[in-house]
Amino acid sequence: MSDSHGLSVVVLAGGISHERDVSLRSGRRVADALAAAGHRVVLRDPDAGLLSFLANERPDVVFPALHGSSGEDGSLIGLLTALGVPTVGSSASAARRAWSKPIASSLISATGAAVPDSIVLSHESFRELGAAGVLRVVRESLAGELVVKPAMGGSAQGVSIVTDPNDLPRAMVDAFTYAEVVVVERRIVGTEIAVGVIDTGSGPVALPPVEIDPTNGIYSFQARYNAGETTFYAPSRLDAAIIEMASAAAVHAHVALGLRDLSRIDFIVDAAGTPWFLEANVMPGLTETSLLPLAIDASGSSAAEVYSGLVEAAAARVKVPVSE
Ligand SMILES: Nc1ncnc2c1ncn2[C@@H]1O[C@H](COP(=O)(O)OP(=O)(O)O)[C@@H](O)[C@H]1O
Ligand SMILES: [Mg+2]
Repeated sequence: MSDSHGLSVVVLAGGISHERDVSLRSGRRVADALAAAGHRVVLRDPDAGLLSFLANERPDVVFPALHGSSGEDGSLIGLLTALGVPTVGSSASAARRAWSKPIASSLISATGAAVPDSIVLSHESFRELGAAGVLRVVRESLAGELVVKPAMGGSAQGVSIVTDPNDLPRAMVDAFTYAEVVVVERRIVGTEIAVGVIDTGSGPVALPPVEIDPTNGIYSFQARYNAGETTFYAPSRLDAAIIEMASAAAVHAHVALGLRDLSRIDFIVDAAGTPWFLEANVMPGLTETSLLPLAIDASGSSAAEVYSGLVEAAAARVKVPVSE
């Protein structure tokens, strides 16, 4: 279906995850940028008609601008791969590794990189062993301030910073609203940065790290999607040597998790300059206030150029015969 006037691209946005609205905004931006780059773009919600639509239309590439559940957990990518439709972004198995925060953290920790200590609890274990006993062990082994978060999810939904141990039960309940498994992690105090990684065919390259400075100190859902609640510094104000180390840590995490095309790796840099790995996002937010687009701007490139490079790389990938 490709011609000299660009590729036929289906941008997927929406879905039924908790991040539906964010995805709709990401998808619109991606569709506009790809259209500006000369591609023929259809923006579509993933729904019960999607798989037959793609099987009939056979677009050159699908750009799944989907956040949360089926878009980021590998389910949809696995199906599109089975259909033979090329997609921008990580493979289904790599997406599964990154989607699970405890699995991603274990893999990154095993490479020797700095990852906050944590305890991972299923809802069942919590009920089976009794909340009081479980929470006592958690408090004793992870002394100090904690972060409680759903093992899977995004946009800080269900995430709490626990500074008073009495707030731990409430934080657990909030997190279990979003997932069956919850991570209780040591809070790292420092400067939060997000590092985009892009690979349009010549290897993964870190974009300038974006520094996040929420007005009320916590990068919550509200702080993310309401204008003026967070100040972003792109590039970050951190020292050049620290920026270099964080950029290398992001590329390292992208490679260690087997990610492809694009990702955003989040860190907190402590007072000693160590970047602590928080999580890897296989389809980071691409809205007008999102971090990866800010990083693209800071790199001197444009969204049209970068997304176009990604769809072209994804389309080229399948042109290689299986036998080679
Ligand atoms: N260990 C931690 N120490 C300090 N802050 C954290 C920690 N883990 C998460 N946070 C804060 O919570 C936010 C959301 O956590 P994160 O793991 O990135 O989940 P999400 O997928 O919802 O973005 C982060 O942006 C950061 O501000
Ligand atoms: Mg995050």
